[in-house]
Amino acid sequence: MENASFIIEGGRRLSGEIEIQGAKNSVLPILAAAVLCEGKCVIHKCPRLSDVDSAVAILEHLGCKVNRLDTSVEVDASVIERSHIPARLMRRMRSSVIFLGALLGRTGEADAAYPGGCELGPRPIDLHLGALSQMGAVITEEYGHIICKSGAAKETCIDLSFPSVGATENIMLFAARGRARVTIINAAREPEIADLGEFLNKAGARVRGAGTGVITIEGSLRLSGCEHTVISDRIAAATYMCAAAATGGEITINGADPAHLGSIAAAMKQSGCRIALGERAVSIEAPKEIRPVKLIRTMPYPGFPTDAQAILMAYLTRARGVSVFIENIFESRYRHADELVSMGADISVNGRVCVVSGVGELTGARVRACDLRGGAALAVAALSARGTSEIYNISHIERGYERFDEVLSSLGAQIMRKKI
Ligand code: UD1
Repeated sequence: MENASFIIEGGRRLSGEIEIQGAKNSVLPILAAAVLCEGKCVIHKCPRLSDVDSAVAILEHLGCKVNRLDTSVEVDASVIERSHIPARLMRRMRSSVIFLGALLGRTGEADAAYPGGCELGPRPIDLHLGALSQMGAVITEEYGHIICKSGAAKETCIDLSFPSVGATENIMLFAARGRARVTIINAAREPEIADLGEFLNKAGARVRGAGTGVITIEGSLRLSGCEHTVISDRIAAATYMCAAAATGGEITINGADPAHLGSIAAAMKQSGCRIALGERAVSIEAPKEIRPVKLIRTMPYPGFPTDAQAILMAYLTRARGVSVFIENIFESRYRHADELVSMGADISVNGRVCVVSGVGELTGARVRACDLRGGAALAVAALSARGTSEIYNISHIERGYERFDEVLSSLGAQIMRKKI
């Protein structure tokens, strides 16, 4: 991937309106679900992101015909030529693991390289594999490859010990073309799960309860092509909300779904922001003085999302007082803290707890994005800092934000993308 950096001149107040992108975390499982459909699927509001490119590369490798027109993608999975995904494609993004369930459902077998760990710490897939084998798949691991073959179909009730988003998706994908009913207890309740359920139902599956803690899937032997518009990206919306608030600005995000932003809006209101939730839009006005948020605990949805933790933290570095974060989802998700400290923030990390003591101002610095949301957090900090910042390693940011620099520029930010 191309190496580039963002150069940001801080201190510009953001204002204006933007249209929010489609959700990365919705479109990836939906692209995998297209493998289940014997016909053409048309997916709208598909963000132009490197993670989407990685999913498309897997689809093409499997034999699907993919056609991208602006933010719509057509996937024709009439013919699936192979059920093997090599390491070079699996390792491009961690969520490629959801192709296991889709391939098993479509071809009865899947052979994929182990997705490995990632920048957020170890990312086990025991819940995925345990559930697939409970549903009758026979799973072996050889030389870093996971080899799955579907066995006799049987009615299954899977109790997830943790409501894993990816495991819930993998189960739904495998079960959608199974021959027996599958019930998931303690399923992930993220809006992206509900979106996947809606897509599968449009294709002819019978999924009930997606978006709640109990999901039932009655398998259908055949799924057909369908047309679907993915939901808007709640984490991208949260990022632009924090960027506006951090710069003392006022913006409206069109296309955002207020119902998905509850815990984020609550935290930002505590900090003094004024937030208006419309039917399909969210407006935010920064406070005169940022108040701290006493305790932010990341939790599965509808709790505060781990993906918004770094971004909110960047905003709260300038609050008048102390904010405390507790990261309950991932082990190593404070790698942005050191970079924020180099910009003048006062942050101390102790295991899962992070204490942010607000400082009067941040200063521009050269910093490095360590992961997707941590990188976006550095941009939020840089936008509000005095002076110029350069953020390296922005390929992380571009995995999840469509035209990040253009969107921010349209709101009045001084941001330039520099090829290195
Ligand atoms: C998804 C999102 C990611 C988000 C995360 C939590 C996508 C593409 N990614 O990731 O942006 O941060 O949800 O909201 O949708 N776990 C296990 N064993 C497993 C599976 C998960 O121990 O088999 C653990 C993970 O290590 C992690 C926690 O469960 O600590 C949450 O993971 P999970 O909900 O599965 O997240 P992802 O689906 O990987």
